[in-house]
Amino acid sequence: MEILQIRRFRRLRSHAGIRDLLQENHLDPKHLVLPVFVHDERESQEIVGLPGHYRLSPPEALNYIRDSLGLGIRAFSVFPVVPQLSKDMQGSEALNREGLIYRTLKLIRGQLPEALLIADVALDPYTTHGHDGVLDVKTRDVDNDATVAILEKMAVYLAAAGAHFVAPSDMMDGRIYAIRSALNANGFHQTGIISYAAKFASCYYAPFRSAIGSATGTANYLDKRTYQINPANIREAIRECKQDEVEGADILMVKPAGHYLDVIHCLRQNTMFPIAAFQVSGEYAAICAAAEKGLLYRSQAAMESLIAIRRAGADFIFTYFAREVAELLRG
Ligand code: PBG
Repeated sequence: MEILQIRRFRRLRSHAGIRDLLQENHLDPKHLVLPVFVHDERESQEIVGLPGHYRLSPPEALNYIRDSLGLGIRAFSVFPVVPQLSKDMQGSEALNREGLIYRTLKLIRGQLPEALLIADVALDPYTTHGHDGVLDVKTRDVDNDATVAILEKMAVYLAAAGAHFVAPSDMMDGRIYAIRSALNANGFHQTGIISYAAKFASCYYAPFRSAIGSATGTANYLDKRTYQINPANIREAIRECKQDEVEGADILMVKPAGHYLDVIHCLRQNTMFPIAAFQVSGEYAAICAAAEKGLLYRSQAAMESLIAIRRAGADFIFTYFAREVAELLRG
């Protein structure tokens, strides 16, 4: 018999109803984490490179999060923007318990207990050189163990200030175990760890780095290749994830997301742990720029980029499109 008589795929695409019944993967506001930037100024300030995103004062951030909860977004990743004058070689401000991030978390946790709060653990918002750890003066490389000793304290302070999850984004060896131990030793057994486990040395973090002022060179490039993973490597990424499972991570993250769907997919087949993906600032900026030029249809590009990340196997996604997509999904 002629093949067209038997198999017609278009039958299952012929009506919106059947298309809906058969949709394999879904996107919902509850799958999205919204990044929120705070600074110690009264006035909000739009972030160049992240159109539609602002550095907010803590009270403004509170309103922004309240409003976003209304859109169905459940989780927020709060990033501090620290003035250059408060930065130093060691990132000392990271352990100032009166500092911006701790005050902000306390405020939000107190006022909006229904918001799930995630806080990065890394020194880059606090160091003059923009690296995620302290620099060894001799080698000019990040000093792994000295950094971990700071990060474990920072994680405890973040938990005490109200973070539900801490998210080590520094890529130092052994930090997950150190942070888990420190949290437990201080009674924070219920504070979870989202490990930036497969974090690549990507140029796509540039708008984020300009947002927090952690790099000022050409296109905000900063060489982090001695600790972040080579974009050419997938086996190494899976080994990092396996290690973080053993060390006590609760959730494993792949970052960036869009160019690393194979890593998400491979990890999905190699772990029973929940997987997060971070659609980073450069991914967002690229879509915004193309849409602004009339080259891409912005909302469709946003939705397609996110459903692809879900299809690859991510349970949830950090994305600068969170609010926009939540609004679209609500119709
Ligand atoms: C800091 C950190 C970075 C991002 C999240 N946490 C930048 C970096 O590692 O240089 C990037 C997020 C984004 O680009 O949206 N450790």
